Amino acid sequence: MAVAGLRRELSRRIYVRSRVARAGAVRLAYLAYSRALLRWEDPSSPEAAASLRRRLEELFDQDFRDAEAGYYPRSLIETLPWREYAQAVPRLLADLPRTRARIGRGDFRELPQDAAQGRYPHYYARNFHYQTDGYLGHTSAALYDLQVELLFGGTADAMRRRLVPPVVRTARARGASPAQPLRLLDVGCGTGHLLNMLGAALPLEAKLFGVDLSPHYIARAREVLPRDLDVSLVCDNAEKLPFVDASFDVVTSAYLMHEVPAEVRARVLAEMARVLRPGGLVAVADSIQLADAPELQREILAFPSRFHEPFYTGYVKDDLAARISEAGLRATSSQLAFLTKLVIAEKPGPGPASPTNAR
Ligand SMILES: C[S@@+](CC[C@H](N)C(=O)[O-])C[C@H]1O[C@@H](n2cnc3c(N)ncnc32)[C@H](O)[C@@H]1O
Repeated sequence: MAVAGLRRELSRRIYVRSRVARAGAVRLAYLAYSRALLRWEDPSSPEAAASLRRRLEELFDQDFRDAEAGYYPRSLIETLPWREYAQAVPRLLADLPRTRARIGRGDFRELPQDAAQGRYPHYYARNFHYQTDGYLGHTSAALYDLQVELLFGGTADAMRRRLVPPVVRTARARGASPAQPLRLLDVGCGTGHLLNMLGAALPLEAKLFGVDLSPHYIARAREVLPRDLDVSLVCDNAEKLPFVDASFDVVTSAYLMHEVPAEVRARVLAEMARVLRPGGLVAVADSIQLADAPELQREILAFPSRFHEPFYTGYVKDDLAARISEAGLRATSSQLAFLTKLVIAEKPGPGPASPTNAR
C-alpha cells in the first residue's frame, strides 16, 4: 500500500516536472522566434515569471490528480496529438512569412473572397491572431491547434481539461448511461479538442454536440475526431443556437467569450442558458481576467495588440461570472488554471428526475 502510494507520488512529481520543463522549452523557442523575427521583447517581470511558473505547476498537478481520481483516462494526459502536429509543421513553416507580413502591416482584413461578402458578422470576418484566413480557411483550421500549443507551451489541452471533471460529476450524479446519456453541447467547439476529451471521459454516457460558425473548423473537427465518437457537429452562429429550449443537460464553451464583443457575449450566454434544462450545468473556460491576476497585467494587456484580439481587452476588464449570472444562470464556482478561468453555473429550477427514478 505504502509502496503504491510512493510510486504514485513519484509519478505525479515526474509528470508535473516534465510538463513544466516542456512548457519552458517551448516558451524559450517561441521567445527566440518572436524576438528575432518580430522584434517582440518578453515583458515578464520576475514577479510575473514566478506567478506563471506557480500557476503552471498547479495546472499540471491538478491534471494528474484528476486523471488519478478517474475523471478522465490517463491516456489523455500522457501525450499530445503528435501525429496531428507533425503533419501541420511544414504548412505552418510555409505560412509563417505571410502571418509575419500581416503583423508588420497590422492587416486583419485579408480574407478569402467568399468570406468578405457579408456572410459573417463584422466582428468575425477578420484575421484573428493575424492568422491566415482568420477562421475561414482549411489551412487555418489545420494549423490552429499547433499554433495554440506553441503559444501556450503545450498547456492548451490541460487547460481545456479543467472543464471535464465538473461534467463527469454531473453525469455521475444524473446516473447517465448508454440508455440515458447526458446531452452535452459545446459552443464554439472549433476543431473539437474539448469534445474529444469529453468523449474519452464519458464514452458511453454522453451524446455530444458541437456548434461553431466556421465551416472549415467544423470540417477539421470531423476529420480529427475519433470515428466512433457519438458527436453531431453543426455550423451555425452561437448568437442564435439551432436547438430548442431546454434540450441539453450540459453546455460548455472554451475560449469563445474573449473573441466576441460584449453584446454578442451576452447574447451567446443567453442562448446557452435557453437551450439548457432547468437544473442543468454550464461550464465556461476562457482567459483569466485582470482582477484574477494583477501581477500579470502587462502580459495580459500585451496579448491583444500582438495577436489581433480586438475584443480581448474589453473581456479581461469584465467579470465573466457576473455576465453568466446576468444570463439567468447561477454561478456556483470560479477557478483559475494557469492562464484560464473556469466558471461553473447552474440553470435555476428543478433538475430532471434521476434515471433510476424516472418513469
Ligand atoms: C479561440 S477559438 C476556440 C475553439 C475551441 N473551443 C478551442 O478550445 O480551441 C474560438 C472559436 O469560436 C468560434 N466562434 C467565434 N464566434 C462565433 C459565433 N458567433 N458562433 C459560433 N462560433 C463562433 C470560432 O469559429 C472559433 O472556432
